[in-house]
Amino acid sequence: MASSNMFRRVLNLSLILSSLLFAMNCRGSVAAAGFTNETDRQALLAFKDLIQEDPLAVLSSWNDSLHFCEWKGVKCDLQHQRVTALQLVSQNLGGSVSPQIGRLTFLREIFLNNNSFHGTIPPDIGQLFHLKILSLYNNSFQDLGLTLPNLKRLYLGDNEFSGSFPPSMANASGLLLLDVSSNDFAGPIPTNLGNLRYLEVLGLNENRFGSNKPDDLSFIASLTNCTNLRNLIFFENQFGGVLPGSIANLSSKLEILWLRSNKISGSIPQEIGNLNNLYFLSIDHNMISGSIPESIGKLSKLQQLRIVDNNISGKIPPSIGNITGLSFVAAAANKLVGRSNRLTGVIPEQVIGISSLSIGLYLDLNELTGPIPSEVGNLKNLGALSIRGNKLTGEIPSALGSCQVLEYLDLQGNFLDGAIPSSLDQLKGIQQLDLSQNNLSGQIPEFLGKLRLMRLNLSHNMFEGEVPKVGVFNNISAFSVVGKNMKLCGGIQPLHLPACPIKFSKKNKRAFPDKMIPLIIIPPIVLLLGSLFLIFYGLKKSQQRTSSASLLENQYQKITYAELLHATNEFSPSNLIGEGRYGSVYKGSLNSGEHIVAVKILKLQERGANKSFVAECDMVRILRHRNLIKIITVCSSLDFNGKDFKALVFEFMPNGSLDSWLHPTQAEEQGLNLNLVKRLGIAIDVASALDYIHHHCETIICHRDLKPSNVLLDGDLCAHVGDFGLARFLSANTNLSNNAHSKYGMGEEVSTEADMYSYGIMLLEMFTGKRPTDNMFIDNFSLHNYVKFALPDRVMEIVDSTIILEELEGLNKNRRGEGEFAKLKSCLESILQLGVICSAELPHERMDSGNVVKELHRITKDYNE
Ligand SMILES: *[C@@H]1O[C@H](CO)[C@@H](O)[C@H](O)[C@H]1NC(C)=O
Ligand SMILES: *[C@@H]1O[C@H](CO)[C@@H](O)[C@H](O)[C@H]1NC(C)=O
Ligand SMILES: *[C@@H]1O[C@H](CO)[C@@H](O)[C@H](O)[C@H]1NC(C)=O
Ligand SMILES: *[C@@H]1O[C@H](CO)[C@@H](O)[C@H](O)[C@H]1NC(C)=O
Ligand SMILES: *[C@@H]1O[C@H](CO)[C@@H](O)[C@H](O)[C@H]1NC(C)=O
Ligand SMILES: *[C@@H]1O[C@H](CO)[C@@H](O)[C@H](O)[C@H]1NC(C)=O
Ligand SMILES: *[C@@H]1O[C@H](CO)[C@@H](O)[C@H](O)[C@H]1NC(C)=O
Ligand SMILES: *[C@@H]1O[C@H](CO)[C@@H](O)[C@H](O)[C@H]1NC(C)=O
Ligand SMILES: *[C@@H]1O[C@H](CO)[C@@H](O)[C@H](O)[C@H]1NC(C)=O
Ligand SMILES: *[C@@H]1O[C@H](CO)[C@@H](O)[C@H](O)[C@H]1NC(C)=O
Ligand SMILES: *[C@@H]1O[C@H](CO)[C@@H](O)[C@H](O)[C@H]1NC(C)=O
Repeated sequence: MASSNMFRRVLNLSLILSSLLFAMNCRGSVAAAGFTNETDRQALLAFKDLIQEDPLAVLSSWNDSLHFCEWKGVKCDLQHQRVTALQLVSQNLGGSVSPQIGRLTFLREIFLNNNSFHGTIPPDIGQLFHLKILSLYNNSFQDLGLTLPNLKRLYLGDNEFSGSFPPSMANASGLLLLDVSSNDFAGPIPTNLGNLRYLEVLGLNENRFGSNKPDDLSFIASLTNCTNLRNLIFFENQFGGVLPGSIANLSSKLEILWLRSNKISGSIPQEIGNLNNLYFLSIDHNMISGSIPESIGKLSKLQQLRIVDNNISGKIPPSIGNITGLSFVAAAANKLVGRSNRLTGVIPEQVIGISSLSIGLYLDLNELTGPIPSEVGNLKNLGALSIRGNKLTGEIPSALGSCQVLEYLDLQGNFLDGAIPSSLDQLKGIQQLDLSQNNLSGQIPEFLGKLRLMRLNLSHNMFEGEVPKVGVFNNISAFSVVGKNMKLCGGIQPLHLPACPIKFSKKNKRAFPDKMIPLIIIPPIVLLLGSLFLIFYGLKKSQQRTSSASLLENQYQKITYAELLHATNEFSPSNLIGEGRYGSVYKGSLNSGEHIVAVKILKLQERGANKSFVAECDMVRILRHRNLIKIITVCSSLDFNGKDFKALVFEFMPNGSLDSWLHPTQAEEQGLNLNLVKRLGIAIDVASALDYIHHHCETIICHRDLKPSNVLLDGDLCAHVGDFGLARFLSANTNLSNNAHSKYGMGEEVSTEADMYSYGIMLLEMFTGKRPTDNMFIDNFSLHNYVKFALPDRVMEIVDSTIILEELEGLNKNRRGEGEFAKLKSCLESILQLGVICSAELPHERMDSGNVVKELHRITKDYNE
């Protein structure tokens, strides 16, 4: 589902973009700038004129006594008073659709489904460049080609169209994009689709096309005449028959071939190597057998290979090692076998050694035998490795410890033996580790409790000895040691394991000569001294801390609990403007309304809130920069119940957070629009703030929580970075280049590179409009990868469509030409490239904040020239 969502969004954007370009190319419609609210009224009346049947008198409200925005089924943009949607579903309307509909230039949605409209769909609809949804299901349109010779992109996806594939479609010979995905279409695909010579994208996914018959895929042969075909997508249908050899005769421009979840048999043709621009190949969940052809190695641009759940046998051809950009291989649930050469290991080292693999390598549920080759250590960028359910033998290679960004490792259900190698303590990023159902033995290493593991499965092995108690072992539901591990002891109480024998057993005692005994006695003394030192040190530290808050209070005008209570209308919910983990932010007014402020009340009952208060006081005391939130004062006192009360008072930012601009809720949508230049300005502001805290303060400061909700916009949309509650000083004498801890992982550690990672992701979010947490990002397919894979060619498909619309409308008005379009594209490409670099997996590859500022200034200058 999520992947199809992704596809649909991509199509949506290309539709908007392409219809827009279409409109630009179409003489006359450039004059769209001259359209007004009066044009809309006239067009609606013309639409009404051609409706002959209206038994429910829906259109009686379409009269002069009401403003047209209040007519039934008409939705307007309240700011401009222009029509944005026609929603006339199931109203028994009959008649034809007036071509004047093409003059409603603000239209985004047309819902005329389940009526009795007939005639042709007016080609003028092609001029509606804001149109996102054209829903025409269950009418009697005669559904299309002949009358749409100029239509470039037809998006009928995600509707409820049913019946067979419209045969007249092949007559819309100018189509570049045809998407009928996610409908209820059934039956065969006509074999004359090759008439659509210019077709670039064909989306048939998520329908009931095909009937599990041998000739279901015969339409593919005709598509070999579409020499520009880039995307052929027909996953989740009922296509049967064998994968035709003609698939290899499709355009060499083909980039995406996506036919997951059909009933396709046969084998992958040897000639598939001809498709030398392919970067995404998904044939998973079919019945394809045979082996992976050697020629796969010729697909030099391939990034993702997905062949999960088929009947593919034989070995993975070594030529796959020739694909230098491969980042994801999912080949689980097949019948792949290892190579027979025992010396080199059975998972071909060419596969397991592809250092570009970054997203994941899934080889589970195959028939791989022999040991895991030590080349596994080459997978230095890999996020997920799963070889579950094979027949692997031998020990876990200690080279696996080199895969230091690995987050997910699953070796369950093999015949691995020996101990867990101590090198695995290097897996600093590991979150899920499953070694269950093997024949592993020895002790459970203590270091597993120190890794960032969220799940650990060691069950059904032969482990013995003490179960650690810290980290993942402290949460009974996060780990499992059940099964054959009969000789385990200790661990946390809910495990109900027998207590471990006392450490210094007779045998061990004998190993210590008598003079060692004092050493054993000494520790309590050291401990006592140590704790005395800690108490002293801790006291001193906390004195320092309170003093920084009071320093602040001295520095600024003092404010009391009562004053803040009054200023925020007694912390009234209507004054609440933000809510974080450690604090709630209220709008308040001081000096009887003279001074509007933002008051952050710490949630002291939250663990860590007090620490965050102290950190923030420490920071804001020394920070002075126009792109940082300015502190006015702090309050540290008691509330009226005698409980601790702590608050920070900041200057108020009337335009709220960047997050609310990037992701407006429906209610806010009107008028909230950040154009390209404003976004660039904000990006520069934030980078300047980072440059300041990273390079121009007394000591290096790391923000550690940079995200759009912590970037606030003042009245001029100038950005100010706030919330230093998690910020840390980086001790000046830390030698960064030797700091192994800052080299890996991307969340916890304190480093300027970690800030740059967050910055990079934020930049990508700002310009794609997609949150890094969007549910399209699955299987380790991240926002970073989404952008990286789209660059440079598909930049316009992934950029937030509102940016493009806004800029192109500007181009329209000023009648600037193709050159300007290329400039826009190049600008967006540079920005996204910057975001990709900043969010690079390896910290040392990320750009430094100072250089980011320079680069953004350059991009801005080039664009404005
Ligand atoms: C159309 O827009 C003009 C100018 O914005 C405004 O004065 C007029 O009232 C609007 N008419 C309608 C019918 O909304
Ligand atoms: C105009 O529409 C309104 C709302 O449906 C209705 O009350 C009114 O009678 C209509 N006027 C005419 C002249 O039809
Ligand atoms: C279509 O409209 C008819 C009335 O004309 C209604 O009975 C039916 O429920 C509608 N179907 C859908 C799917 O809305
Ligand atoms: C299609 O519309 C007709 C009325 O025009 C209605 O009777 C029928 O139920 C609709 N079909 C569906 C599937 O909604
Ligand atoms: C397609 O166009 C041809 C003529 O160009 C016409 O004869 C044929 O009927 C059209 N097919 C459909 C299904 O509209
Ligand atoms: C491709 O086009 C040629 C010439 O227009 C035509 O003869 C041929 O039948 C077409 N091939 C397919 C497979 O449709
Ligand atoms: C693919 O194209 C080649 C050269 O045009 C032709 O010889 C071959 O028969 C075609 N293969 C299929 C399966 O159509
Ligand atoms: C892979 O690369 C090697 C050289 O590195 C070359 O000899 C071989 O032919 C290539 N294989 C394929 C299938 O391209
Ligand atoms: C799987 O492939 C083997 C040969 O590779 C074949 O004998 C077998 O019938 C295939 N099974 C299915 C279910 O297609
Ligand atoms: C651990 O692995 C075993 C067998 O592989 C499985 O049955 C069990 O559900 C797993 N436990 C957890 C907590 O994941
Ligand atoms: C597991 O390892 C033990 C020795 O540690 C060995 O005796 C046994 O045969 C192994 N079992 C399997 C299934 O490999």
